[in-house]
Amino acid sequence: MKQELEAIRAKALEAIVGAEKAEDLEALRVQYLGKKGELTAVLKQMGKLSAEERPVIGQLANEVRAKLEEGVETRAKELAAKALEMKLKAEAVDVTIPGKAVKIGKKHPMYQVLDEIKDIFVGMGFEILEDREVETADYNFTKLNCLEGHPAREWTDTFYFTEDSSILLRTQTSPMQIHAMETRELPIRILAPGRVYRKDEVDATHSPMFHQIEGMVIDKGVTMADLKGTLNAVMEELYGKGTVTRFRPHHFPFTEPSCEMDIQCHKCHGAGCPTCKGEGWIEVLGAGMVHPKVLEGCGIDSNVYSGWAFGMGLERLALGHFKIGDLRLIFENDVRFLEQF
Ligand code: PHE
Repeated sequence: MKQELEAIRAKALEAIVGAEKAEDLEALRVQYLGKKGELTAVLKQMGKLSAEERPVIGQLANEVRAKLEEGVETRAKELAAKALEMKLKAEAVDVTIPGKAVKIGKKHPMYQVLDEIKDIFVGMGFEILEDREVETADYNFTKLNCLEGHPAREWTDTFYFTEDSSILLRTQTSPMQIHAMETRELPIRILAPGRVYRKDEVDATHSPMFHQIEGMVIDKGVTMADLKGTLNAVMEELYGKGTVTRFRPHHFPFTEPSCEMDIQCHKCHGAGCPTCKGEGWIEVLGAGMVHPKVLEGCGIDSNVYSGWAFGMGLERLALGHFKIGDLRLIFENDVRFLEQF
């Protein structure tokens, strides 16, 4: 029995020290020290021993048990330490690896120009109005003195939503004049930027969607001189002191008199170059004195009040500002292009 016990001790200790996993170690503990384990099985036979042998074997058995328990405990600690080390290694962060660059976006060049224009007008006491792009023909045309049958309703090549041509994508920001007059107390000073839509083929200077900025002032004693003075001041802010403008007579149904304003080409100063297509001038906006019929239609007494309005194309201003040659670049949103501004 003594040999049996010593054999178990040797065999068990070797196995315990060599256990590579916690589960294996636990299996060994059960195998040797468990209720049905090998050591227990030997001890069960103690009864067969003589009175002299019993204490000697009993002591040895206790020693073996203690040795095995100690062995299991030590190995368990070792395995736990090893597992922790592996975990730490696996989760380690290498602080010396270079970081991934984060790409920060920036404002679209056209909106940079718009922000600049808004700032200029806000500085002059204007209120910014941004509103719907779906309009009724009433606001887009009729209330702007383009009555049914007026060629404007066709030449603008409108996107209509309904068969009866009553609902549409606005073709101009001018309906904002009406909305402002209907909802604002007098006097009114508004700037209304936004998208407008026309059935145009895409090319270097056209797009079916583009942006306009509408401006309007209604007050007592407002004249064409105020319109010219304001727009000249704005163009000097935008393009620099001494920017030369020119006003040409024109026709719009909702202004009387009407005009178009050009700025002298900032590249050739009027001599003629590719930027201004040899003209020396670049058309910037349409404007005029708000038609008395439009004022009266909004319940404003045209004998007491007068006003002016203008509408300019934002894309064209941005193209000029950043010296971009093709309108399509503005809309394609290629970051390699947009990044440059
Ligand atoms: N709405 C006109 C256009 O789209 C521009 C304009 C606005 C003209 C205001 C006069 C007054 O061409």
